[in-house]
Amino acid sequence: MSKVRILGIESSCDDTSAAVIEDGVIKSNIVASQAVHEKYGGVVPELASRAHQQHIVPVVDTAIKEAGMKPEDISAVAFTRGPGLLGSLLVGTSFAKGFALSMNIPMVEVNHLQAHVLAHFIKADEHDHNQPRFPFLCLLVSGGHSQLVLVHDYLNMEIIGTTIDDAAGEAFDKCAKIMDLGYPGGPVIDKLAKQGNADAFKFNKPKIDNLDYSFSGLKTSFLYFLRDRMKENPEFINQNKLDLSASIQRTIIEILMDKFHKAVQQTGVKEVAVAGGVSANSGLRIALEQYAKEEQLGLFVPKFSYTTDNAAMIAITGYYKYHQKLFAPQDITPQARMGL
Ligand code: KG4
Ligand code: ZN
Repeated sequence: MSKVRILGIESSCDDTSAAVIEDGVIKSNIVASQAVHEKYGGVVPELASRAHQQHIVPVVDTAIKEAGMKPEDISAVAFTRGPGLLGSLLVGTSFAKGFALSMNIPMVEVNHLQAHVLAHFIKADEHDHNQPRFPFLCLLVSGGHSQLVLVHDYLNMEIIGTTIDDAAGEAFDKCAKIMDLGYPGGPVIDKLAKQGNADAFKFNKPKIDNLDYSFSGLKTSFLYFLRDRMKENPEFINQNKLDLSASIQRTIIEILMDKFHKAVQQTGVKEVAVAGGVSANSGLRIALEQYAKEEQLGLFVPKFSYTTDNAAMIAITGYYKYHQKLFAPQDITPQARMGL
């Protein structure tokens, strides 16, 4: 049987990425990040779509070349349809249409959230059999989403908990912004937290009975707490960056883990996973490892390159949909909002 080679394209936010996957094995994964947003403290949609337009052709070209292939070798092109920024999604979607049409190959639309979860199925080589078994629970934590996903099968996922306001990544980014740490703030807080005392400050956690998350209250209490302290001492933030980072990170992790425990108990799963940008967080990784060890659960943590947005996860999702002949029509349009 001939090999199935999927070109994946991701352009939902501020990373332009292209990847090639051959029979489930990664061949290349190129990501061009957009530094242009840093000085604005967040992603500027207009600038993002313009940068995608500049990056998409060289990024795809490099991904195909690095895979040791030519455009004619590709079996299908998978692209992110949503959720994300409409202008950004349009660039990837339009490129995929043009590529599919000119090469006379099918197109596969991919849900970005489903792709974050399926990143766990990207094989490093043909002997890599270290993948989760169904059903498993995945904590999906990114800049836009915080969800507890019960994964029944590759293309059958159930959201059993979700955020009612901000996402965990947003909580990291907003708290970092309050402390003037730059954007995106998650990785900065992670780094500073390693040298700080996580018990130094206490912040209130939300009281929600079901499996849903909430992070906006935490951000507000952090803001008010700092406003009061800064009135007494204008150097308070500067003098306490390490302890503040460690304490806020610890609170976010506790909020995430509380519901995670509850979800494992409710579902009775034996294997768990984490996905999305926040899964790069070292404190969260340690908390998950400890918990999985205590409860004797199989734990799957993605490679760092598959935590934040990347096209390898789009290509692997496209690979599973390709086998089911779930192809997209040429008149397909991107969708800013999309559930799992
Ligand atoms: O999955 P992702 O790249 O994009 C979305 O789909 O949203 O996630 C980006 C988010 C940002 O909020 C960023 O601050 C956060 O992931 N992030 C982290 C870390 N690395 C990235 N948060 C905490 N610790 C990290 N090490
Ligand atoms: Zn993402």
